[in-house]
Amino acid sequence: MSQLSLAVDIAGLRLRNPTMNAAGVLGISGPLLKRVYEGGAGAVVTKSLGPVPREGHHNPTLVTVEGGVLNAMGLPNPGADYFVDVIRWLKGEGVPVVASFFGATIEEFRDVACTLSDAGVDALELNCSCPNVVEEMGMLGADCLNTEAVTAAVKEVAKTPVFVKLSPNVTDISEIARGAERGGADAITACNTLIGMAVDVDMRRPILANTTGGLSGPALKPVALRCVWEIAKTVDIPIIGCGGVTNWRDAVEFLLCGASAVEIGTAVMERGVEVFGMVVEGIRSYLEVNGFKEVKDIVGLAHET
Ligand SMILES: Cc1cc2nc3c(=O)[nH]c(=O)nc-3n(C[C@H](O)[C@H](O)[C@H](O)COP(=O)(O)O)c2cc1C
Repeated sequence: MSQLSLAVDIAGLRLRNPTMNAAGVLGISGPLLKRVYEGGAGAVVTKSLGPVPREGHHNPTLVTVEGGVLNAMGLPNPGADYFVDVIRWLKGEGVPVVASFFGATIEEFRDVACTLSDAGVDALELNCSCPNVVEEMGMLGADCLNTEAVTAAVKEVAKTPVFVKLSPNVTDISEIARGAERGGADAITACNTLIGMAVDVDMRRPILANTTGGLSGPALKPVALRCVWEIAKTVDIPIIGCGGVTNWRDAVEFLLCGASAVEIGTAVMERGVEVFGMVVEGIRSYLEVNGFKEVKDIVGLAHET
């Protein structure tokens, strides 16, 4: 029997393997999230949940572009209170749950974190980075001081590890990560989408109703890898890589750059939940072929000279 283990520990949260879905992809209902887990993910991440239900932006909210997808959903979600029962159901089914959440003010972030934490989630993922600037949120996550303040407020009420998910749309992401770490973040998720746009040449108008949207998928991967690389050189807390993971090679690249786990979004929309099993099996073979025993043996290896 092989001694090889795919289990990872992220700030005390033990997962059977280092994969999760990215927030917003299949994260809106209990049965869909259960399918993500059955597809092989180590844990599931909910859609970002706010203090009240939100409809989000008007259509079109999604457009395929070269190398990925642009979305401007505008954080549609049923609200944290509604999700309490969904979380309890998932926990009853044995699924580890990470709740992604947001607020418009520090108080809202704290209240939503409290609701989700009390519901029994395994970890919270503070969405500090939605690029579809929802007006009342301002530019949270673009400044290390407000990132530190909101993280500290959430940490006061959280009963679980808090992951802080950062935006790549900043000058120096490692500075923001340092702010999150100072605020008490248990891990950093890097990264959210990159702001972009697409134009309909016949209509001579932007395609998305919101004009701009967040770029995800393979085109985002080099940027996300660079973010993980820089953050790994700056903070001591674990990192969860996210952005353009489509296959096991992509996942291994993130691990080598310093991520302890990866989240997968666009590839799940395009290939289904089977992508988790394929990525996990690929990581397993990579470890086996190269003589490693655990995922953590390769975390950050690309930094060694
Ligand atoms: C349709 C869609 C909805 C998303 N919704 C959220 C969200 O609610 N909260 C969040 O933090 N990120 C959201 N994201 C960003 C993803 O979680 C992820 O950071 C991004 O898509 C990059 O990963 P990928 O290239 O694997 O898709 C969304 C992405 C897509 C494509």
